[in-house]
Amino acid sequence: MHPMLNIAVKAARRAGNLIHRSADKIDHLTVTRKSHADFVSEVDRAAEQTIIQTLLDAYPDHAILAEESGSQGESEYLWIIDPLDGTTNFLHGLPQFAVSIALQHKGIITQAVVYDPVKNELFTATRGRGAFLNDKRIRVTRRVQLADSLIGTGFPYTRFEHMDAYIAIFRDLMQKTAGLRRPGSAALDLAWVATGRYDGFFETGLKPWDIAAGCLLITEAGGMVSDLHGSNTYLKTGHLCAGNPDIHAQLLKAIAPHLTDELKK
Ligand code: IPD
Ligand code: CA
Ligand code: CA
Repeated sequence: MHPMLNIAVKAARRAGNLIHRSADKIDHLTVTRKSHADFVSEVDRAAEQTIIQTLLDAYPDHAILAEESGSQGESEYLWIIDPLDGTTNFLHGLPQFAVSIALQHKGIITQAVVYDPVKNELFTATRGRGAFLNDKRIRVTRRVQLADSLIGTGFPYTRFEHMDAYIAIFRDLMQKTAGLRRPGSAALDLAWVATGRYDGFFETGLKPWDIAAGCLLITEAGGMVSDLHGSNTYLKTGHLCAGNPDIHAQLLKAIAPHLTDELKK
C-alpha cells in the first residue's frame, strides 16, 4: 500500500472507531445547527481532529481542507476530509455514514479512503493502482441498460436553488431506471458505485469533502465521473453524475433536457 494511503487508512480507522463508540450515546451529544437542516455534533469535530492529528503527525507540511475546521497550511499536498459523512443519519441512529479522506497532489486526487465503521468496510484507491474493498479489488457493474439499473442519489435538503431541476430529473429517472435510492451519505454512495452495488449516481450541490475520495474510487474501479453535463468541474460545482461507462452516458442523456443554465456551468 502507498505510504500516504496507509496513513489515511490509519486516520480513517481511528475516526471510524470513535464514531462507532459514540453511536450508542447519540441522545447525550452536543449538537449545533450550522444552517437549515445542517447539523454538526461533537463527534464530527472530535473525529476531524483525530484525522488531522494523524495526518499531520506523519506529514507536518501538508495542507488540510476539512469540513468542520476549514483550511490550514499551504502545500502541493492537500488532504480533503469529511470526518462524518451522513451526520443526519448518525444523529438519528440510522447506520449509514462514513469517514472520507482524499489526498490531492498538485490539483489531482491521488489517494482515497472511505470507511464505513458500522459494516467495517474500508474502500481505498491509489491513482493508477485500482480500487479495493477490504483488500479485494472492486469494479463497477457491467449493466448496459438504464432500465435495469439501480441509481443512488441525494435530495437537496439545505439549499433549494436547484430543486425544480432536481425533481424533474428524479421524476424522469423514476420511470427510466429499475430504482432510485437515497441512503444519506454521498461518500458511501460513490463507494457503492465503485463496488457495483449501484450502477450510477447523481446529486447537486455537494462539497469537495463529500466526493473527492469517492470519485477516485469510481474511476479506479473502471467507472466515469463528471458534472451533470459531462465535463469535469464537479469538485468545484458539486453537481455530480457517475456510473459505469454505459450508465453514466445514459444518465447524462436523461438529465440533459432538465438542466438550467446554472447547472450547465
Ligand atoms: C451530506 C451527505 C448527504 C448529501 C449531502 C451532504 P454530511 O454530508 O453526504 O448524503 O446528500 O449533500 O452534505 O453533511 O452528512 O457530511
Ligand atoms: Ca458530507
Ligand atoms: Ca460531514
